[in-house]
Amino acid sequence: MSTNAELKLDGKTYSLPVVEGTEQERAIDVTTLRNQTGHITLDDGYANTGSCYSKITFIDGERGILRYRGIPIEELAEKSTFIEVAYLLIQGRLPNRAELRNFSELLTRNQLLHEDLKFHFEGFPSNAHPMAILSSMINAASCFYPELLLDPKTQFEIEAARLISQVRTIAAFSYRKSRGLPIIYPKPAYKYTANFLHMMFSDPYQDYELNPEAVRALDLIFLLHADHEQNCSTATVRMVASSRANVFASAAAGVCALWGPLHGGANQAVLEMLDQIHREGDDGSKFIQAAKDKQSGKRLMGFGHRVYKNYDPRAKIIKRACDDLLGKLHRGDPLLDIAKHLEQAVLSDAYFVERKLYPNVDFYSGIIMRAIGIPVEMFTVMFAIGRMPGWIANYREVMEDPHSRIYRPRQIYTGDGLRHYVPLEERP
Ligand code: SDX
Repeated sequence: MSTNAELKLDGKTYSLPVVEGTEQERAIDVTTLRNQTGHITLDDGYANTGSCYSKITFIDGERGILRYRGIPIEELAEKSTFIEVAYLLIQGRLPNRAELRNFSELLTRNQLLHEDLKFHFEGFPSNAHPMAILSSMINAASCFYPELLLDPKTQFEIEAARLISQVRTIAAFSYRKSRGLPIIYPKPAYKYTANFLHMMFSDPYQDYELNPEAVRALDLIFLLHADHEQNCSTATVRMVASSRANVFASAAAGVCALWGPLHGGANQAVLEMLDQIHREGDDGSKFIQAAKDKQSGKRLMGFGHRVYKNYDPRAKIIKRACDDLLGKLHRGDPLLDIAKHLEQAVLSDAYFVERKLYPNVDFYSGIIMRAIGIPVEMFTVMFAIGRMPGWIANYREVMEDPHSRIYRPRQIYTGDGLRHYVPLEERP
């Protein structure tokens, strides 16, 4: 394999180094391109552009492979927990028993919001979207940690624990406020995901009855969303980290990027799509036709992926977990039946097959969250809770990289050529 790429341009030949990753993925390093040739690269949506070296997550889109720190997602889904995976992503290895206990205790010690933050919730309308509340409250929470601004790298472990723990508390409090319910404080004795469901659904006079199957299913959802290399929101977190902003500011920016319906907002859009199909008594073919018609501006939500040109391994796991949970809850869900029918129809439709459009992580996740009682407007918040460890791990990677530079892409200007100011009285 070549270790250099040759570029012929205007009668000259330039040599650019080829770099190779752990899994033999290769890239042409264009760091010196502009200095050598006066040209930049242009790559709409960065589909062909690597922004960094990273040791955190590996994806092979053609083979449908996803590994966190080298461990296959299938093994982690079967044997691990969300908090153990959070440690793995941030620290780079699985914790021993003492490390896992200490990490869990650190999360417990940092799960409460400053009491004054409660007043911020009063300022949101009851129908405020919880992603708007989440991004606002993450930055608001950072105001109570002024030491963050002194040196973002000091006490990183504590800041990471605060973020992972409090993102869950903020989410639950925003749900309670939206329903006019009293906020429920976390219980130190509860594990991470059980505590979240307790804060969401308990009442002052009666604790929510935790169903172990539901807790396990939601923990799996968080685990499967924990990281996914340089997706839109993680790339945003790294962009903000590259200016040396603090980890709360970087995570709040990640929440905003994740909100979009083409990204994390897709899980809410999928449920709304399935629900509309159900209400209209359609079999999904209307939606499939609309998604194939460019004029409609519609997409089949939960299908397609920039990297996976095969089945998203997370979608396979979540689909099985859907069947498993609904079976154990002795409940069916017509939307799951519609989703399965839709998947079968799409996977045999030439339009989708030619474009290698398969179900992604968002296609089935909402069915599980709905079965647990999570309201649809909170689905993307669940994605954010799950993705927090991945964002923190990427933030740390940028901050600890001695060669890290501020992200500052170039552009090709296509606006007006030179022109001069025209005084108001001389304008038409
Ligand atoms: C996530 O990056 C990540 O890792 C993200 C994520 C993570 O864990 O962080 O995996 C989470 O965001 C999953 C994706 C959730 N989004 C959706 O489900 C929304 C629906 N999907 C799409 O909008 C789309 O597939 C994207 C946004 C996911 C990917 O878009 P790309 O890579 O820019 O693909 P494209 O728009 O260039 O599409 C290529 C072709 C186009 O048709 P042609 O112009 O070639 O004729 O496929 C078509 C598109 O119109 N297409 C779809 C489609 N997705 C792509 N057509 C109908 N329905 C779809 N869902």
